[in-house]
Amino acid sequence: LEHSLLADIEQAASPDALEAVRVKALGKKGLVTQEMKQLGAMTPEQRKEAGPALNQLKTRIMDAIALKKAALEAAALDQRLAQERQDMTLPVSPRRQGRIHPITQVLDELSEVFADLGFAVAEGPHIEDDFHNFTALNIPEHHPARQMHDTFYLRPDANGERKVLRTHTSPVQIRTMLNEKPPLRIIAPGRTFRSDSDATHTPMFHQVEGLVVDRNTHMGHLKGCLEAWLSAFFEVDRVRMRFRPSYFPFTEPSAEVDINCAWRDGALVVGEGDDWLEVLGCGMVNPRVLSACGLDPDEFQGFAFGAGLDRLAMLKYGMTDLRPFFEGDVRWLDHYGFAP
Ligand code: PHE
Repeated sequence: LEHSLLADIEQAASPDALEAVRVKALGKKGLVTQEMKQLGAMTPEQRKEAGPALNQLKTRIMDAIALKKAALEAAALDQRLAQERQDMTLPVSPRRQGRIHPITQVLDELSEVFADLGFAVAEGPHIEDDFHNFTALNIPEHHPARQMHDTFYLRPDANGERKVLRTHTSPVQIRTMLNEKPPLRIIAPGRTFRSDSDATHTPMFHQVEGLVVDRNTHMGHLKGCLEAWLSAFFEVDRVRMRFRPSYFPFTEPSAEVDINCAWRDGALVVGEGDDWLEVLGCGMVNPRVLSACGLDPDEFQGFAFGAGLDRLAMLKYGMTDLRPFFEGDVRWLDHYGFAP
């Protein structure tokens, strides 16, 4: 019996065949099981001999089955590995690669320039209070400049205070002057919000603020920093700039800065021709703003500037519509984005 069963096990060519052998030997009506049932009819002496012998037989059969099972499984795995081997000659499937958004690109570039000039990056909240966004910047209530900002107001809180979505990055000037001691040298890039929407305005847009406060700071320093940045940004040796007198409540004197450019076939060429393009607002920090932040205007002076990042990106890359910047259309990003 044992020989024939072991031979069956050895010849089993598949897990199913092996299972059939197991049932034939050890199943409820299996050959070994039936032998075991005979034990009851034996005399105690016979049983003493036949019992252990049968048990050992059962163990040997079970061991043989387990061994064969492992061998069959190993063979099956070998076969699968052989069949599923990678075909290295197949063409690779195209892999989508992300792109760097033009605004991120502009921000990365300018951060590098200003880092070289010793500026740190500062941040402030998108939801601002009236004090930081307006009052401390010398824009008191009922000041006409408040109307110019198309402000998004939040619902008044329990104290009747109405927070705003910051309309510019200038509140970061205030936060910096209140929290740190001069000399200060920061840029503050980030999101800003105004209730305005057309091809070149979106309710959310990006600005970068610059602020320097130190002793003996003057407009020549402002001009030098802007020249370094704008020349690097527009990739010219030395950008030609025009400072046009302007007005901001928080700077005095104030200026708007134009860069010299020409339009060729609808494309912007910087540093040539006799067109001028406005790129930012700036000025010397108004002494009233320094005072509001606890700084003595007789001891400290500062300059500040603010520019629209989206607008700068549009100019540099020849885009005419601002809205797709924020629509998340991958095709647009594939076209205008930058390889990482
Ligand atoms: N905050 C001004 C604006 O949003 C820009 C500005 C910043 C002007 C700093 C002067 C100094 O228009």
